[in-house]
Amino acid sequence: MDDIDSFLDAHKPTFEGELCALLRIPSISADPNHKADMGRAAQWVADQFRGMGLAPEVIETTGQPLVYAATPPIAGKPTVLVYGHYDVQPVEPLNEWISPPFEPTKRSGNIYARGATDDKGQMLTHLFSTAAWLKTRGKLPVNLQFAIEGEEEVGSKGINGFLATRAGQEKLKCDVVVVSDCSQYGPGQPAITYGLRGGMWFQLRLSGPKQDLHSGTFGGAVANPINAICKLLAALIDDRGRIQVPGFYDDVVPLTEQERKAFAALPFSEADFKQQVGVKELAGEEGFSTLERRWVRPTCDVLGIWGGSQVPKSAIAARAGANVSFRLVPNQNPQKIAAATKEFLLARRPPGIELEMEVLSGSEAVVVPLDSPYVRAASRVIEQAFGRAPVYMREGGSIPIVRNFKDQLGVDTLLLGWGLDDDNTHSPNEKFCLADFHRGIKASAHLWNELAKQ
Ligand code: BES
Ligand code: MN
Ligand code: MN
Repeated sequence: MDDIDSFLDAHKPTFEGELCALLRIPSISADPNHKADMGRAAQWVADQFRGMGLAPEVIETTGQPLVYAATPPIAGKPTVLVYGHYDVQPVEPLNEWISPPFEPTKRSGNIYARGATDDKGQMLTHLFSTAAWLKTRGKLPVNLQFAIEGEEEVGSKGINGFLATRAGQEKLKCDVVVVSDCSQYGPGQPAITYGLRGGMWFQLRLSGPKQDLHSGTFGGAVANPINAICKLLAALIDDRGRIQVPGFYDDVVPLTEQERKAFAALPFSEADFKQQVGVKELAGEEGFSTLERRWVRPTCDVLGIWGGSQVPKSAIAARAGANVSFRLVPNQNPQKIAAATKEFLLARRPPGIELEMEVLSGSEAVVVPLDSPYVRAASRVIEQAFGRAPVYMREGGSIPIVRNFKDQLGVDTLLLGWGLDDDNTHSPNEKFCLADFHRGIKASAHLWNELAKQ
């Protein structure tokens, strides 16, 4: 692997330059104003494959385009599907960014920009490792396929639709999936992730009087949508951190004693964690540790809330709304949870208030087996590239497609995260450590070699 390793060393500036080029495209999937940027980002990814001598396809979906490419077939070797996403989250609040979100800036070994770690930087590690093989050896030791989508941050509807078709399943057929879209356990401690939470995201819209009303003249006689939404949202969780929707916990797979022990054995400092997130005290469901609360217990969080005037004004608002998410764990079913939640909320609808609940997206949690030769191969290359053997962890975040790869293609996913918990994913000042970027490329290049031995 010396030839490939020296190619990687020699091309570090090129890789960083290319990463910055993609980071300059504001591909925010949730914002229809960025429709054209989504197309540009997809084309940019396709151009990377063209630059390697591959023939990519930009597949139209019901939403954003899916970029597909495959390396020339190598008989008798496994087929590996690399999945990643070129879309990013919105950037608000903009004034909290030290450098603008779409002007990638290097500061103390990190590259700062929206999408740096989630997922442009991590996703590109696999493209660049593949380019290195093609440029130095002219071919890969395995069959590689890439599916790089543009709707992960809004629930992956397009690629899920594609994966539900016969043609999509034929195209993405593989032996194993590789995804780098999560984190290491901590700085200097790489990890292999074997579980992700699922989720159910919904929007609640309440309306009362036909227009805003003087709160003195009418207050007390007319239902107030903001009062009502506060009460409804507050009813979702009790003081012990338990979600109150009937049947919510019915299907939850309890933690095994073995897993509890394994989590407890991971080095974890509550004090450091408090400092990292900037709180004096932690909170959550009674009876569970912080790692358990983050990785394997379901949650309910209000993500946004609106209504009324943001400057003092003596009026009752006509409308109020909120975006809410549940994080789900094995074997909770998002549709079932959505139906039970709707029933719970409608039963509490106060008189004089109209209530609408719209489900935005849902995905099931996933756990991948650790006793596989693929996991052992990944573990070896991570140890080589990062200088330390990975620990096995679960994650609280969701990557909706991973569960569908299992259900539709019957394959497991290797979740190899190169990011860090303090990368400010979805927050202002998102970053990616450039040393991890290069270690990720190296691990990926070696992974193709190790997977070829399976
Ligand atoms: N890459 C993240 C998920 C993630 C982050 C997994 C950190 C593990 C560690 C992904 O891009 C993401 O943000 N997913 C969304 C999915 C949702 C919008 C449907 C999430 O988890 O909120
Ligand atoms: Mn991501
Ligand atoms: Mn994300």
